[in-house]
Amino acid sequence: MTTLTPILTKNWDQADSFTRAGYERDGGYEALRKAFRMEPDEIVQAVKDSGLRGRGGAGFPTGMKWGFLPPSSPNPRYLVVNADESEPGTCKDIPLMMANPHVLVEGIIISAYAIKSNLAFVYVRGEVLHVIRRLHQAVAEAYEAGYLGKDILGSGYDLDVVVHSGAGAYICGEETALLDSLEGFRGQPRLKPPFPAVAGLYGGPTVINNVESISSVPSIIANGPEWFAAMGTEKSQGFGIFSLSGHVTRPGQYEAPLGITLRELLDMAGGVREGHRLKFWTPGGSSTPIFTEEHLDVPLDFESVGAAGSMLGTRALQIFDETTCVVRAVLRWSEFYAHESCGKCTPCREGTYWYKQMLKRLEAGQGTEEDLETLLDISDNILGRAFCALGDGATSPVVSSIKLFRDEYLRHFELGACPFDPAKSTLWGGAK
Ligand SMILES: Cc1cc2nc3c(=O)[nH]c(=O)nc-3n(C[C@H](O)[C@H](O)[C@H](O)COP(=O)(O)O)c2cc1C
Ligand code: SF4
Repeated sequence: MTTLTPILTKNWDQADSFTRAGYERDGGYEALRKAFRMEPDEIVQAVKDSGLRGRGGAGFPTGMKWGFLPPSSPNPRYLVVNADESEPGTCKDIPLMMANPHVLVEGIIISAYAIKSNLAFVYVRGEVLHVIRRLHQAVAEAYEAGYLGKDILGSGYDLDVVVHSGAGAYICGEETALLDSLEGFRGQPRLKPPFPAVAGLYGGPTVINNVESISSVPSIIANGPEWFAAMGTEKSQGFGIFSLSGHVTRPGQYEAPLGITLRELLDMAGGVREGHRLKFWTPGGSSTPIFTEEHLDVPLDFESVGAAGSMLGTRALQIFDETTCVVRAVLRWSEFYAHESCGKCTPCREGTYWYKQMLKRLEAGQGTEEDLETLLDISDNILGRAFCALGDGATSPVVSSIKLFRDEYLRHFELGACPFDPAKSTLWGGAK
């Protein structure tokens, strides 16, 4: 499998890809017209039949999530799009919203109609002002064209969309912290149950989906669920955006069927940068255990990546060549988690702090093998004991790097310095 499937990324090279006119020229908003000829429940069924699984990381089946909404409730229903994209390495939703915001707007209208909601929110990461402006523009254009507002296209259906910018906290991507933040509170995860489907935004039944999940809906409606299900693997159907970054010749977004391998993607991306070789990589962002060269042929679908010991996550393929110090990379990620830990629970608040302190020392070569056991012990105290998945994610780079690169940690201790430091290392012809 070496073919790309440009669907969400199809028109990105067009100068006006982000405008309504540019989107419509390519069949944009036709799926919406088709959706209005269907009953809401038929759309939910089509999304279920397509096999679409959440593209925000966990891979929960989207149609099934929609089906969890209680049939009746005194409170209004809401659709919330999670556009907080902040995981280190994850960089697909932001270019998607920049280049093709209307596919998201069309997806929101169809999805909100399917779940019988009249108010949708897009919660966008606060730092990306350019994307926020672009989304505001796309929503305004959709109102002008009668795709939003009252009696959309004469269907009798009303929908308003609010674009809300966060203040730049990774934890606000966690769905319940996002809801608290959207309601005006400090963004910290809520206890579940109740799940958002039952009591979410303002206590109303709420569906929260990732940008790419919702943007995939128009093509499913336009082409039919079988078309979507025919791509990918048996349990991970459809296509997805694979983001290649780091030491790769042509970094960027590669939209391909799930189940493609990194070897195939690297072939298309010109390989690891010239004169270098792959050392380690993340299949799904910094919260997923790292892989090495031996995992180049693992199909990038939810099941195969899981069976190989990591997670597909957000398909954020960060490539590191042999010039990278794995201890330093893990230190950088751990500094991120310590900074972004919301502090609500002790294992994560304290554990990420200690990760940072210890890894700083270890990277400088001031550690012993016993410290590695302490790091693993801290990890045991976080994994499965933290209040939300941020804590679990923080353990992934630490535990997997000790498993795969214990020798490199030991080399730091032997040398009393980082072997990748040019001043200290023999690697670069420097002084020992
Ligand atoms: C710390 C943390 C950050 C997250 N950040 C995001 C994010 O930026 N975007 C996103 O879609 N999901 C993020 N998630 C996952 C969401 O909680 C949720 O599973 C997702 O939005 C559901 O959408 P989906 O089913 O369409 O994937 C994050 C989870 C955690 C624990
Ligand atoms: S795991 Fe970390 S981010 Fe999540 S609630 Fe606990 S302290 Fe907050």
